[in-house]
Amino acid sequence: MAEQDLSSKVDDLKVTENAAEAVNDDDDDQVVDPWNVVTKSDKGVDYDKLIKRFGSTKIDQALLDRFEKVTGKPPHHLLKRGIFFSQRDMHQILNRYEAKKPFFLYTGRGPSSGSMHMGHLIPFMFTKWLQEIFDVPLVIQLTDDEKFLWKDLKAEQALKLSYENAKDIIALGFDKDKTFIFSDMEYIGSCPAFYRNMIKVQKCVTFNQVKGIFGFGDSDCIGKISFPSIQASPSFSNSFPHIFGDRKDIPCLIPCAIDQDPYFRMTRDVAPRLGYPKPALLHSTFFPALQGAQTKMSASDANSSIFLTDTPKQVKTKINKYAFSGGGTSVEEHREKGGNCDIDIAYQYLTFFLEDDERLQQIREEYSSGKMLTGELKKELIGILQKLVADHQEKRKTVTDELLKEFMTPRKLKWGGKDS
Ligand code: TRP
Repeated sequence: MAEQDLSSKVDDLKVTENAAEAVNDDDDDQVVDPWNVVTKSDKGVDYDKLIKRFGSTKIDQALLDRFEKVTGKPPHHLLKRGIFFSQRDMHQILNRYEAKKPFFLYTGRGPSSGSMHMGHLIPFMFTKWLQEIFDVPLVIQLTDDEKFLWKDLKAEQALKLSYENAKDIIALGFDKDKTFIFSDMEYIGSCPAFYRNMIKVQKCVTFNQVKGIFGFGDSDCIGKISFPSIQASPSFSNSFPHIFGDRKDIPCLIPCAIDQDPYFRMTRDVAPRLGYPKPALLHSTFFPALQGAQTKMSASDANSSIFLTDTPKQVKTKINKYAFSGGGTSVEEHREKGGNCDIDIAYQYLTFFLEDDERLQQIREEYSSGKMLTGELKKELIGILQKLVADHQEKRKTVTDELLKEFMTPRKLKWGGKDS
């Protein structure tokens, strides 16, 4: 862009090089990208290593303290417990909040199956809390186009999955007046401003660069190669003229799991060249599979996941049968040596869903010392998840097609007590 000087161009190039380095190398013992999460360690992914490799910043106590000071609310348990553990430019967002300057939230989901699982809930539960404390507009992208391109799905099926997943998301209690949910297949064709941003991003990124960032190869279809421009575009406020008019200077904050960071490294790289602010990010760890923290929960493996459609009995059976235990092999051994919370999946899940800090600490102590048995620990988790899943199913029943349509209709949103 003409108004940009050469030094910032050089800067941009440097970022791109870093992004290229971030691609997984073969001899590493962990693989983390938007399509794979696997590690050899039973403690799970080494997140400090990821922060280093991706070049993001660890969320430290100072940021948590500032969060509390600025918003007047104690940090969410997912923040306090380090489940949201990494960030980019979060201080800038807090500065804006303090200065009463606008920003918005952006998150998304690739609708790959009709039924969402517990792991999918985490970023949305957290985003809902952010929306409440900041009182800002939220846009939720459903990438049915992405799933169409990557999976064996018909376009029409993928769109249907968007609607099904949107109902689950709405059931979490998002504020209709402040939330716009959109399907890529539906919205992009109706919004020239969004499409313009896509091609602007496409013009800034070479095939070589996306190869470096995402590992695309010569035989990947060209849809995949240009897809990152679609996930990048909602970061820019003028992609939503019904909410922000033609303002292009309103930054967004993106809560997401860390495997989505490659998309946003690329977005942050091109934003200044387009005259747009860079998106800020809050990254979460992965929600581990029942079988252990070596991989994340996956909707395509029914036994690795607790689904939001599971019956109380299924919840109980899956946890009792599959949840990897850090306990002793016999009651005697367990009583003597205690359990290992760091690898115990039932305990790990409690850190996501049991909000009561004191109770969690008590369980940790009792399980580690051997006083609490694996069966007792699992029973505690089963009770919590059965209630959560049953409550969710009740709420989802109240989400009508009409309500769904309202959430998915481009319209003005309310924020800071005002209309946009
Ligand atoms: N690619 C994501 C997925 O497969 C979906 C997504 C689109 C997303 N935009 C996002 C996730 C922004 C987090 C934040 O789930």
